[in-house]
Amino acid sequence: MAEKHFKYVILGGGVSAGYAAREFVKQGVKPGELAIISKEAVAPYERPALSKAYLFPEAPARLPGFHVCVGSGGERLLPEWYSEKGIELILNTEIVQADLASNTLTSAARTTFKFDSLIVATGSTVIKLTDFKVQGAGSQNIFYLREIDDADELIEAIKAKKDGKAVIVGGGYIGLELAAVMKINNYSVTMVYPEPWCMPRLFTPEIAAFYEGYYANKGINIIKGTVAAGFESNENGEVKAVNLKDGRVLDADIVVVGVGARPLTTLLKGQVEEDKGGIKTDAFFKSSVSNVYAVGDVATFPMKMYNEMRRVEHVDHARKSAEQAVKAIKASEEGKTIDQYDYLPFFYSRSFDLSWQFYGDNVGEAVLFGDNSPTSSKPKFGSYWIKDGKVVGAFLESGTPEENKAIAKVAKVQPSVASADQLTKEGLTFACKI
Ligand code: FDA
Ligand code: NAD
Repeated sequence: MAEKHFKYVILGGGVSAGYAAREFVKQGVKPGELAIISKEAVAPYERPALSKAYLFPEAPARLPGFHVCVGSGGERLLPEWYSEKGIELILNTEIVQADLASNTLTSAARTTFKFDSLIVATGSTVIKLTDFKVQGAGSQNIFYLREIDDADELIEAIKAKKDGKAVIVGGGYIGLELAAVMKINNYSVTMVYPEPWCMPRLFTPEIAAFYEGYYANKGINIIKGTVAAGFESNENGEVKAVNLKDGRVLDADIVVVGVGARPLTTLLKGQVEEDKGGIKTDAFFKSSVSNVYAVGDVATFPMKMYNEMRRVEHVDHARKSAEQAVKAIKASEEGKTIDQYDYLPFFYSRSFDLSWQFYGDNVGEAVLFGDNSPTSSKPKFGSYWIKDGKVVGAFLESGTPEENKAIAKVAKVQPSVASADQLTKEGLTFACKI
């Protein structure tokens, strides 16, 4: 059995891994000290591209165009970059066992990797309808989207079933972004989700009403309050219809499912403390095992601003947590300390000509401002969230970079506000004067 030893191993080759590698180089790493082990076949890339420009019919985004760290406006780390820096990029390699007591990872091909320090950056995996034993959920042309291979398979089907019918199951991030992209690919699109409005974990009914109206105007059919109860397939095993729980039947050539994700912590079960479904860390992303760190989607960390342990499944945190962990590892080697992670939540999405950003916490009373009519030629609206007389969260559709900066500042500063009416009246002006 082959064995390799590295001072630092990053387990997972996604967004966090790429940003961690760049930070290692900034902080100083010697050739041969660092390895990234990934089951994907490609160097770390900006995963958000997969549900957006990667699926466009015209001028789609392709690697190497969106390797990290272009998503945050940084230098693009091509595969050569890793070799130039003496970083081992060990691709197509799935780790199937982790033994923290002996600092050992074992791959499916039975290679063992020893480490002094480990950064766990395994991200999330999709929740599948087969997990709930939905009848026929194993049919062909039912897709999930997490990795580039998933996106490539979907692209093949989009071509094969040209101008066909797509059913999108789920009304969250994947649901909204994929419904748009399938429409752009000239598919006839129906979305199905159980809740009374889309993206309920962030959107208020007023915010959701805008996107639902906008999508309807694009010709997307939205069915709410029910779920996919089963799938029918043709003689080739390809999906041909979706049976809804409420009895309706939808014709389908392609189904895309986005019903949530689950952090990939299984390898470390019983070996590290967990919290809220993730690996519990301190403000430096150190787990309960002192040489093991966890970053990105898998980490449940102290959110200093809200004095609460949280897990975040978004790219901005993946980048920043990775940088924080590497700074902490390097500082501890030098007997130094660094500041605690003080994260301001930032989420965003883009579809069609729309683009929104959200900062802070969506708790308390929500106050809508601006023009949220889906038929408006230039829709621009947002929402603030007020808790205990302070503005704690802010959402903005179609903001300029300056306006987005302004709402970020509001969420960070948490200014007091006299009344909800003041925010409704002042709208963006309130944020711009903070
Ligand atoms: P990430 O998932 O990026 O990387 C994990 C890596 O670990 C993968 O390479 C995986 O193969 C590997 N791995 C896992 N287990 C392994 C094992 N046992 N052995 C070896 N390798 C293993 N966020 C946002 O803020 N805005 C956005 O627009 C989007 N858009 C978006 C689109 C799509 C399609 C997805 C799936 C996700 C987003 N996100 C997003 C979320 C964002 O991409 C996500 O939060 C980060 O990618 C998380 O980064 P991580 O490094 O934690 O995991
Ligand atoms: P999600 O949690 O955003 O949404 C899941 C949706 O599916 C919810 O509306 C949920 O109620 C619904 N649902 C649950 N069970 C259902 C069922 N049986 N039938 C129909 N609908 C059902 O998860 P997602 O959209 O699958 O995204 C997966 C991951 O990718 C998440 O971590 C997400 O943060 C990430 N992601 C983020 C972005 C972004 O930030 N812009 C974009 C894409 C993906």
